[in-house]
Amino acid sequence: MDDLRQKYLDAIAAAADEAALEELRVTAVGKKGEISLKMRELGKMTPEERQVMGPRLNALKDEINSALSARKAALADAALNERLRAEWLDVTLPGRPRPRGTIHPVSQVTEEITAIFADMGFAVAEGPQIESDWFNFDALNIPPEHPARQEHDTFFMARADGDDRPPHVLRTHTSPVQIRAMQAQGAPIRVIAPGRVYRCDYDQTHTPMFHQVEGLAIDRDISMANLKWVLEEFCRAFFEVDGVELRFRASHFPFTEPSAEVDIRCSWTGGTLKIGEGDDWMEILGSGMVHPKVLAAGGIDPEEWQGFAFGMGIDRLAMLKYGIPDLRAFFDSDLRWLRHYGFSALDRPTLHGGLSG
Ligand code: DAH
Repeated sequence: MDDLRQKYLDAIAAAADEAALEELRVTAVGKKGEISLKMRELGKMTPEERQVMGPRLNALKDEINSALSARKAALADAALNERLRAEWLDVTLPGRPRPRGTIHPVSQVTEEITAIFADMGFAVAEGPQIESDWFNFDALNIPPEHPARQEHDTFFMARADGDDRPPHVLRTHTSPVQIRAMQAQGAPIRVIAPGRVYRCDYDQTHTPMFHQVEGLAIDRDISMANLKWVLEEFCRAFFEVDGVELRFRASHFPFTEPSAEVDIRCSWTGGTLKIGEGDDWMEILGSGMVHPKVLAAGGIDPEEWQGFAFGMGIDRLAMLKYGIPDLRAFFDSDLRWLRHYGFSALDRPTLHGGLSG
């Protein structure tokens, strides 16, 4: 009996897992286990022998059962400890930085411009980037042989062989949106049209694709004075400097009469540009009173209505405001540049909340 006891207690202590324990339980105390068989033999014994052997066998069976469950619990503890050791989490680690995109300066400045003009009652109008020759030129009083056509470095779309209608163009300016907006809405009208434009040109301040914003206001009694006020108001708000000073310089555009280019007072010291002070002037936009022929092309009676228009380069405004020296870098998609010059996605420019955060 002592040998039996020792054999099973040793085996239980050495069992490596629950399966081994179960096997031991079956061979020792299962229905046909060694100890159960011994218990059956009690029947063949004398009452005296049975009185001695009965309790001893019962005690042995109990001992083995408790050894089995103790070992089972110990194995479960060990398994849990092993899991706790393997599966741990250092809650003191710093959070992983989430990849963070930024708002491109062109988008930022477009939003800023839109916010300022929206406050003055201008809606946003749009037109196609592939434009007909008529909208891009003729309707804006630039007939086929007009010298202004050459200055636009136009990209032409191909026509099928034998089709000799004038080719479509990649719009060279946002001015055709003036015509589209007039045709769609009639007068009175107050819109801006920001968007992409294309010219075959490439150097530090020119890229083949760039951005302009067009402005158009038509009513019965709009004058050059309204144009001047709107542009001054815009520049003060946009550059976020009170002392912004503008100079209106007589100029010529086929689609306006009279026409003016607008320069802003600035200083260049040590290679940095400051707006609103100094003795230099920097051209920032073209403008004028809408030419009667342009009103007519837009389906508006020039005898009854008049208005002003302006056009300016969004990328150029971004370069001036945020001190970005090279236009080409705008469109290189260099992540270091985008992180450096980009804006937080959560700071949307508004007049009341601040334009540039
Ligand atoms: N479309 C002109 C350009 O691309 C800019 C311009 C000048 C637009 C005068 C206007 C304007 O609306 O009145 O050079």
